[in-house]
This record gives sequence, C-alpha cells and structure tokens, in this order.
Amino acid sequence: MALADYIENKPVIETERLIIREMVPDDVPNLRQWMGDEQIYEYWGKGPSKAEKDPELLFEKPKRLTKSFHLGIAEKKTNRVIGDIWVYLIENDRMASVALRLARSAQGKGYGTESLSAMTGFCFEKTELQRLWAEVDVRNTASWRMLEKCGYQREGMIRQGKMVNTWCDYYIYGILADDVREG
Ligand SMILES: CC(C)(COP(=O)(O)OP(=O)(O)OC[C@H]1O[C@@H](n2cnc3c(N)ncnc32)[C@H](O)[C@@H]1OP(=O)(O)O)[C@@H](O)C(=O)NCCC(=O)NCCS
Repeated sequence: MALADYIENKPVIETERLIIREMVPDDVPNLRQWMGDEQIYEYWGKGPSKAEKDPELLFEKPKRLTKSFHLGIAEKKTNRVIGDIWVYLIENDRMASVALRLARSAQGKGYGTESLSAMTGFCFEKTELQRLWAEVDVRNTASWRMLEKCGYQREGMIRQGKMVNTWCDYYIYGILADDVREG
C-alpha cells in the first residue's frame, strides 16, 4: 500500500510502551500541557503556532486532504499523548522525510528512539517507501543520536543552510529499506 493511502486510513502502531495513533479531540487537555512549550521548538527556528498554543484549534479546522502523515505518540499505560510524529514531503510514494517531538517530561526515556524505530519499520514493511530522511541541527544531539540508534546514516552536513525556518549548520540523515533488509 502507498503511504498516501494511510493518510486517510490512519494505522495504529504499537511498541512496548507506546501507541502511535490518530489524535482526537479528547486528547486536547494533554496536548495543552506540552504543545505550547517553547523548549520543544529550540531548533525549529520558530515558536509554537496559534494552534499549538491552543490545541483545540487543531480539531476545529474542517478536515482537508493533506499530504503529510501525522500521528500522536501515546503512552500505553495512560493513553496520554506525549508527542507526535510526521512523515511528510512524500515523493512518488518512494521517499519521505520524518520528524518528531516529545513533551519535555517525556524526553530522555528512550521514547524518541522507540517511536522512530517503529515508524521506520512500519514505512518499510507496510508501504512502498524506499528511503526516509531527516535534517537535524548539529547542536540537537538528542535528535541525531536518536536517528543513529534507529539505523539512520549521516549522509552529510550543510553549512549555514535553511532548515525548517532557521539558518544553521545541519546534518542530513537517511535510511533505505535495503539497509534494513540487509541488516
Ligand atoms: C529529539 C527527541 C525526539 C529525542 O527523543 P528522546 O526520547 O528524548 O531521545 P532518547 O531518549 O530516545 O535518546 C536518544 C539518544 O540521545 C541521547 N540524548 C537524549 N537527550 C539528550 C540531550 N538532551 N543531550 C544529549 N543527548 C541526549 C540519549 O542519551 C540517547 O543516546 P544514548 O543511547 O547514546 O545515550 C526529543 O528530545 C525531542 O522531542 N526534542 C525536542 C523536539 C526536537 O528537537 N525534535 C527533533 C526534530 S526532528
């Protein structure tokens, strides 16, 4: 199945401690606790948007067709959404970019590695994607360490380039379906 098909029919991806699933209006009280936290946006070159400061707005917009695959990351024990993950910039169902963020209270517990690893596995096992990649500010050690732990390879460094909304030195990381198949 192409990833685009899952944008309409969102899957539920389970890991040992997490459930990666569609976010629903009942999640708003939890989202409100962390989505507006400036710390999460340190390397994004912009602060939280209006909807990220007031997550109710995320569910008010009429559902329109989007090209990005966006899911919440919930703790299995509590069903509380403690982060979210995107697969976006999908090119010909073959290549896409990946990004995630976690509430400050959920960072440093291995949840980033656990969710990225599960999402990477899902993309290569259940969709036609052959390559996933990410850009990461060289100073964002937690992020590039997480990518490496999930098998992504550092493919290069861009000096003073534009990344999301900021200018910085950043790494490009990538992983291929073949890398996973070949172990
Ligand atoms: C980046 C992020 C998703 C990582 O998730 P996480 O659950 O905190 O990371 P993990 O616990 O899986 O740790 C991954 C590695 O990074 C290291 N790490 C974690 N936090 C760190 C920190 N603040 N500084 C340095 N290394 C750190 C861990 O020790 C681990 O490496 P190790 O096993 O070699 O020790 C999370 O920190 C986050 O949401 N940050 C804010 C948003 C962001 O920058 N997102 C990335 C943009 S794509």
